[in-house]
Amino acid sequence: MTQLKILVLHGPNLNLLGTREPETYGSQTLADINAELVNLGESLGATLSTYQSNHEGELVDRLHLAGADALDGIIINPAAYTHTSVALRDALLAINLPFIEVHLSNVHQRESFRHQSFLSDIANGIVAGFGNTSYTLALRGLVTQLQNK
Ligand code: DQA
Repeated sequence: MTQLKILVLHGPNLNLLGTREPETYGSQTLADINAELVNLGESLGATLSTYQSNHEGELVDRLHLAGADALDGIIINPAAYTHTSVALRDALLAINLPFIEVHLSNVHQRESFRHQSFLSDIANGIVAGFGNTSYTLALRGLVTQLQNK
């Protein structure tokens, strides 16, 4: 079986994981999360690239690159842009790659503005509320979907 190529994209403020509201987002750093995902990817037959930005346009640009490189799929925690960004939605529609929306926290237990997502209805799957395990569940789910295609 050929190696799958997956991009893991992290939105604004996720570079602060580890110190940012640890009661909500846990104590693992983004580097910890990425390292765990890369290792898990290796064991599942997937090569991962990871990218974080605090800037909406940079996330859009990285999605365009993923489309041009014909990656197999995307795991994205859009962070606050989940609730605001038509630009990320349009970029994901434009590149037309399968993606999983991830949140560390259970956004539906939180403020009402976090209940709205511009991405959920076009995502292949959504994982929220499991802390850093949300990402590993998303990776396992995406790889399974891609292998069953
Ligand atoms: C988040 C939830 C968002 O509402 C918030 O803006 C984030 C992180 C999460 O992973 O739980 O920055 O996406």
